[in-house]
Amino acid sequence: RLNLREQLIREVEIIPLEVVCRNIVAGSMSQRLGIEEGTPLPRSIIEFYYKKDELNDPMVTEEHITAFNWATTQELDDILAMTVRVNDYLSGMFGAVGITLIDFKIEFGRVWENDFARVILADEISPDSCRLWDTATGEKLDKDRFRRDLGNVIESYTEVAKRLGIMKDMPTVIQGGLH
Ligand code: TMP
Repeated sequence: RLNLREQLIREVEIIPLEVVCRNIVAGSMSQRLGIEEGTPLPRSIIEFYYKKDELNDPMVTEEHITAFNWATTQELDDILAMTVRVNDYLSGMFGAVGITLIDFKIEFGRVWENDFARVILADEISPDSCRLWDTATGEKLDKDRFRRDLGNVIESYTEVAKRLGIMKDMPTVIQGGLH
């Protein structure tokens, strides 16, 4: 972090996958499988989507990923292990401030060290790419407020930042600018 608005970013060779991890059924899984939103999953489920806007990011399996050389088997193992770690970390972090991590999406990229490629997390983690529900009330505190036209988008994002203690010293952000 360089300052409030800038970060120094490492360039990666992006792997063309959106990796989704789900703890509770919501969104496209609810629609695809006809399971009510809010149903806890028996265990966390990781899904892969091929990053291709023209095709609406179709869901793919590990077979597609390795057959088309989007990632190797070893890279996929690393991606799965890192996704589980991110899920454990974020679930605990949000759980501690009364927020349930329903699901999230992350991406990965390769960094080259001489001839050796290493896979690293290459994404932001924010309410834009997570589903975050207030544990006590079930209130949505994420981008679904925007996607589903529920209102109070800024207030919800601000609430998440405040609970995490990352907005303590910052001015309140409200529509139209900083105040
Ligand atoms: P989904 O239920 O629409 O498949 O979304 C699962 C999670 O992934 C949810 O937290 C939102 C996030 N997501 C993105 O960040 N970008 C996307 O393009 C999509 C489809 C989902």
